[in-house]
Amino acid sequence: MSALDINFVRSQFPAFSEPSLKGQAFFENAGGSYTCKPVLDRLTRYYTQRKVQPYAPYDASRLAGEEMDEARARMAAILGVDTDELSFGPSTTQNTYVLAQAFRQWMQPGEAIVVTNQDHEANSGPWRRLADEGIEIREWQIDPETGSLNPMDLENLLDEKVRLVCFPHCSNVIGEINPVTEITAIAHAAGAFVCVDGVSYAPHGFPNVGDLGPDIYLFSAYKTYGPHQGCMVIRRTIGEMLPNQAHFFNGDVLYKRFTPAGPDHAQIAASAGMADYVDVLCGHHGEAARDAAQRGASVHDLMRDHEIELLQPVLDAVKDRNAVRLIGTSDASRRAPTVSLALNRNAEAVAAELAGHGVMAGGGDFYAVRPLQAMGVDLDQGVLRVSFTHYTSKQEIDQLLNALDDVL
Ligand SMILES: Cc1ncc(COP(=O)(O)O)c(C=O)c1O
Repeated sequence: MSALDINFVRSQFPAFSEPSLKGQAFFENAGGSYTCKPVLDRLTRYYTQRKVQPYAPYDASRLAGEEMDEARARMAAILGVDTDELSFGPSTTQNTYVLAQAFRQWMQPGEAIVVTNQDHEANSGPWRRLADEGIEIREWQIDPETGSLNPMDLENLLDEKVRLVCFPHCSNVIGEINPVTEITAIAHAAGAFVCVDGVSYAPHGFPNVGDLGPDIYLFSAYKTYGPHQGCMVIRRTIGEMLPNQAHFFNGDVLYKRFTPAGPDHAQIAASAGMADYVDVLCGHHGEAARDAAQRGASVHDLMRDHEIELLQPVLDAVKDRNAVRLIGTSDASRRAPTVSLALNRNAEAVAAELAGHGVMAGGGDFYAVRPLQAMGVDLDQGVLRVSFTHYTSKQEIDQLLNALDDVL
């Protein structure tokens, strides 16, 4: 397969031809990505042509419902799961909150959940709160130097009491990619289910969740070039077993069971644009004829290869600098292009200096308070985070490196 055609990629994102953003290199993609054109087109079409109650027998409504169904069917196919195993909710944080309510009802006092101190708070706090119900919370801890999670440490935490293991595909500050299949196998062997926060991984190529193996996999579409939605893969066995959190009469429809409120119709419909984007990229790179999961895998690899090539020079430029601590591994092939730097001064102030160089980045804790604390980072100073994705160009990386040279 050919290398990613970066000019073609950027032509799919209106932000790159927006005059007010000209010269501004975007490095806060882990916070939220630019939106691709197919998503914007579908959102506009929904709001202009189909903004009626969906699933009624008149044309505008029928088309609205069909487009919502199309989004689930096509995204589920890319993710390697059944259509009704994918559902949408307002955000990943709200989705874990609802799931935790379901586990609260299903679990018995004295049973246990494993959480990590590598996760964003979204996949940590809602589970830890179950301690109020007598659920034992066991923490799988990172290495304070490297930030890594060691699967062998997980084995020591597992016994017949553990019902659920929660961990990230990769952390939004440490960036190292966890071996989801290996960890899932360890948890499953001990009789526990697995909930993976894929929010920081999915923007770098949709994974084949079916092949990876977790029972629950979560990500946020506003970071994967889509609208502001949380996407939940809930495999059938666990989804049918956990108590229904929706209206009682919706409980026999798997994709409705964990979305208690009426969904955001327009944004779900527009989520089909993420599948359009995968297909457009595949077509352009000569991969159009294959099935959806294979197209997803091809695009995943195109994105990863491009990102790894751009990431290594960034890591090399910061890893040995005095007064800079690179959080996580300096090996680009093992991590997402989400790079946090602990400095000996306030990270938000440094981000403000970067803005003067046309670099859009942020400083703070990024709701990853626990991992940063565990690694001994001063939370008052926070970390500077520069994060990019496959649409980032070599020129923007050069702009970033020059700006870092100036401000660090
Ligand atoms: C790793 C990770 N998990 C979860 C979340 C929360 O996602 P949402 O904003 O959809 O609740 C974020 C958001 O930054 C994140 O980076």
